[in-house]
Amino acid sequence: MTQHAPLPGLKLFNLTGRTALVTGGSKGLGLAMAAGLASAGAEVMLVSRHREEAEAAAAALARDHGRRAFGHAADVTVSAQVDAMLAAAERAMGRVDILINSAGINIRGPIAELTPEQFTQVMTVNVTGTWLCCRAVFPGMRARKWGRIVNLASALGLVGLAGRTPYTASKGAIVQMTRTLALEGAADGVTANSICPGPFLTDMNLAIADTEDGKKFVVGATALKRWARLEEIQGAAIFLASDASSYVTGAALAVDGGWTAQ
Ligand SMILES: NC(=O)c1ccc[n+]([C@@H]2O[C@H](COP(=O)([O-])OP(=O)(O)OC[C@H]3O[C@@H](n4cnc5c(N)ncnc54)[C@H](OP(=O)(O)O)[C@@H]3O)[C@@H](O)[C@H]2O)c1
Repeated sequence: MTQHAPLPGLKLFNLTGRTALVTGGSKGLGLAMAAGLASAGAEVMLVSRHREEAEAAAAALARDHGRRAFGHAADVTVSAQVDAMLAAAERAMGRVDILINSAGINIRGPIAELTPEQFTQVMTVNVTGTWLCCRAVFPGMRARKWGRIVNLASALGLVGLAGRTPYTASKGAIVQMTRTLALEGAADGVTANSICPGPFLTDMNLAIADTEDGKKFVVGATALKRWARLEEIQGAAIFLASDASSYVTGAALAVDGGWTAQ
C-alpha cells in the first residue's frame, strides 16, 4: 500500500497537554522518567512517602524543563492514600493521562535467611502498591478513552537470580499484572506496558555498587558490560507514555544492556 499523507514522525513523542503521575518520582529511575516526560511537554506529579523530597524534586524539574510539576506524599501500599493521591493529582492537573509506577523496594538474601515479613514487605510495596495505583487511575483513563500505564518491573521479572526470591517474585507478578491490564484497557484506548530495567546506579543499588561482587556481576550479566546511566531509561518511558506506542500494549520492554538477551 502506498502512503500518501505525511507521517507524523517525532510528533508522536510530544507530550504537550498530557499529565503524568509518577510514583517513586522523588529520585532514581522515577525522577529520571518524570524528567523525560516533562522534557517532552508533560505536566507531572511526583510521589513518594516524603513530602519534602517529592516537592524539592518537582521544583527542580519545573525549573529545568519549564513545565508545571508537583510533589505529593503518599504510601502506595495504603489504599486511602492512593485515592487521596489521585484526588490531589486531579486537583492540580485536571486528570491523569499517564501513570508510571516506579515506587519499589528490594530486600536481598538467601531464602533461608529471609523472614516471611520481609517477603511480604517486598510484595506489598512492589505488587500491591502498583495494583492499587493502576486500580485508582483506570476508570478515568477508560472513560476518557486514552491512557498510558507504565509499570517498573525488572530484568529480574524475566530471569532469576540467586538471593532475590522476594524481588523476582514481585517483578514477575508485575509483568503478568501488566499484560492483564493491557487486555482490560484495550477497548478503551488504555495501554499498559512494563519496563524491565537492568542495573542502574540508584539508591536501591548502593549496597552493591562499590563491591567487587557488584562490579563483577554487572560486567558478567550485561552484554554491554556496564551500569546504565540514568538518562538511559528516559527513551523507553517517553515512548510508552506517548502516542508513539499506540500499538504497543502488554509488552515487557527490556532496558537491560542485553542482560536477558543471553
Ligand atoms: N535501579 C535499578 O537497577 C533497577 C533495576 C530494575 C528495576 N528497578 C525498579 O525501578 C523502580 C525504581 O527503582 P530505583 O532504583 O529508582 O529505586 P530508588 O532510587 O530506591 O527509588 C525508589 C522510590 O520509590 C519510593 N518509594 C518506596 N516505597 C514507597 C512507598 N511505599 N510508597 C511510595 N513511594 C515509595 C521512594 O521514595 P520514599 O522512600 O521517599 O517513599 C523512591 O522515590 C523500582 O520499582 C525498582 O524495583 C530498578
